[in-house]
Amino acid sequence: MSPPNGPNLLWLVLLFVIEVIAQSPNCPAKCTCQYLEVNCTGQQLQDFPMTIPLDTRQLILATNNISYLPSVEMNFLTDLVYLDCRENTISEDLDFVFIGLNKLIYLDLSFNNLTRVTFNTFSQLTSLVVLKLSNNPNLVAIEKDSFANNTWLRHLDMSRTGLTFLDTSTVKDLPNLKSLGLSENPWNCNCSFLDFTLWMKKSGVRFPDAKNISCYSPATLHGWSLPEVESTLHYTCLLHLQERDYAFLGLIGFCIFSAGTVAAWLAGMCAVLYEFHTTKGEDEEDEDEDEEALT
Ligand SMILES: *[C@@H]1O[C@H](CO)[C@@H](O)[C@H](O)[C@H]1NC(C)=O
Ligand SMILES: *[C@@H]1O[C@H](CO)[C@@H](O)[C@H](O)[C@H]1NC(C)=O
Ligand SMILES: *[C@@H]1O[C@H](CO)[C@@H](O)[C@H](O)[C@H]1NC(C)=O
Ligand SMILES: *[C@@H]1O[C@H](CO)[C@@H](O)[C@H](O)[C@H]1NC(C)=O
Repeated sequence: MSPPNGPNLLWLVLLFVIEVIAQSPNCPAKCTCQYLEVNCTGQQLQDFPMTIPLDTRQLILATNNISYLPSVEMNFLTDLVYLDCRENTISEDLDFVFIGLNKLIYLDLSFNNLTRVTFNTFSQLTSLVVLKLSNNPNLVAIEKDSFANNTWLRHLDMSRTGLTFLDTSTVKDLPNLKSLGLSENPWNCNCSFLDFTLWMKKSGVRFPDAKNISCYSPATLHGWSLPEVESTLHYTCLLHLQERDYAFLGLIGFCIFSAGTVAAWLAGMCAVLYEFHTTKGEDEEDEDEDEEALT
């Protein structure tokens, strides 16, 4: 009886140990964990779950009330490839939050409350291919070197944010960019924007929902769609330059005219003086001749 019991017990202990190893660290409460994937969608989480297995590749935190991504805990997840944080209330400054995630390919931060993006926000995400920042109504500033290190970026969505301006250099040096979402932002179509509209025309990048990329200000261009406004901007901004040029040319013309007038006047004076002198000389000569004739 006892000899067969020994191996059975050993098997049970072994299975238990395997189970414990497989589940450690435990799957966070309210989340489901499958092979390398943790899914916590729609669980009204207020905080980032703390017991996420360290080898997780895919983390889905969509549709919760998370307002803060803790930098230290995030950066233990060095194998993370896919991170979905859409529909939360993240409003913190995300600078240096993603510094350990250099395998991350997909990052969704849409439908949050982000306010600004700088070089330090995504600079370590050197494998990033998809970045969704849409529907962040308080996102008003994206610094011009914000994506300088994200050279693999293919899909970038900045639709429905508070952006009024985007420096062309923010996106023009992304060699793999295929799709850029810009629609329904309150774009300020001033002369600084001309460069961007020119880039849009020749970039070859796809602009989803392009009809809804339009100017919000100035009032005269409100509602104009962005690629179309290019010729108007071209005209107004270049005409503006020409006005200055005209003033400059006018000034130069006036100078030349004045100089000419003065020169002509001087030449005239010289001619008159010369004539006056020569005729006087002739008279004197005549007088001499007369005197000679008399003697
Ligand atoms: C978003 O952030 C602003 C301040 O930047 C704050 O006033 C507002 O309440 C936030 N909204 C949400 C939904 O958290
Ligand atoms: C990202 O940019 C920083 C600063 O320019 C640089 O030091 C770093 O090497 C870059 N990272 C990669 C992987 O290119
Ligand atoms: C155009 O508007 C942006 C912001 O909306 C501003 O930063 C920029 O200085 C403006 N350019 C000019 C020429 O007014
Ligand atoms: C453009 O915006 C309007 C209102 O802002 C919306 O009703 C429409 O569906 C948008 N078009 C597309 C193609 O999304």
